[in-house]
Amino acid sequence: MRVLALLDGTLADPDAPLIRIDDLGLVRGDGIFETILVVDGKPRELGPHLDRLERSAAMLDLPAPDRAGYERAAKAVLDNWSGSAEMALKLVMTRGVEGGDGTPTGFALGLEISPKVLAQRAEGIAAVTLDRGIEPGLAERAPWLLLGAKSLSYAVNMAALREAERRGAAEVVFTTSGGSVLEGPTSTLIAVRGRTLTTPPATLGILPGTTQAVLFQAAEQAGWTVVVEPIAAEDLFTADAVLLVSSVRSITRVHTLDGRALPDSTALHAELHALYESQY
Ligand SMILES: Cc1ncc(COP(=O)(O)O)c(C=O)c1O
Repeated sequence: MRVLALLDGTLADPDAPLIRIDDLGLVRGDGIFETILVVDGKPRELGPHLDRLERSAAMLDLPAPDRAGYERAAKAVLDNWSGSAEMALKLVMTRGVEGGDGTPTGFALGLEISPKVLAQRAEGIAAVTLDRGIEPGLAERAPWLLLGAKSLSYAVNMAALREAERRGAAEVVFTTSGGSVLEGPTSTLIAVRGRTLTTPPATLGILPGTTQAVLFQAAEQAGWTVVVEPIAAEDLFTADAVLLVSSVRSITRVHTLDGRALPDSTALHAELHALYESQY
């Protein structure tokens, strides 16, 4: 089941050609996107996702996204969805066609969540650490690298996932060359030690996660300590839990890292997952 809507709120056939071959999103990956979890017809964190779309647009010198248009398109997708209770809602904006008048291409697409992701939510995942070649300070020093923007240029992230598969794992924890933890290719990393949750700072050049923000807020209200500071990759092996979180995968625990079994975090994961779900 897929539902496609344009920013004027009209539906389009997801199986019919729509994007021009000279669209810069297609030929250069020059654009931005968001993926939002919808449960029982309710989009989670739509506002923060649209805010982040705006931040990404500013980082790429794109025009401000047509917020009302994206809300309209999202509503059209939700109103016409007859698939599973959970949906992944993608909002996409590209720089438009090469040599055109600068009008961005935009659409909203509702998709089923893959059974693989649903299984990983329940069972946890094996991950490997991979060097992302990012050093502290690089994001600020070289803003043209677009570190921390949710751009359409995800080929590197997908290549990292294939490398993980070659190494017998399903996921990746990116690290700086100095061995500090960054994020997953499509997720935020959270380490749990005692009653403290820690995530690396976005200033390292990673995407500020909406799921992480919701979990941290819920955890803080429930008496946990939440910390945003660098984490050494070595410290993950002794953490009580290592989590990869994102809108679609929700809270997923890493049970194996670089082929080494991590301490059993089943109970902690269940507790934090319930805490996250209590926000909805
Ligand atoms: C690189 C990256 N980091 C983190 C995340 C998690 O963000 P969110 O929780 O807002 O989905 C994503 C989401 O896809 C991502 O692509």
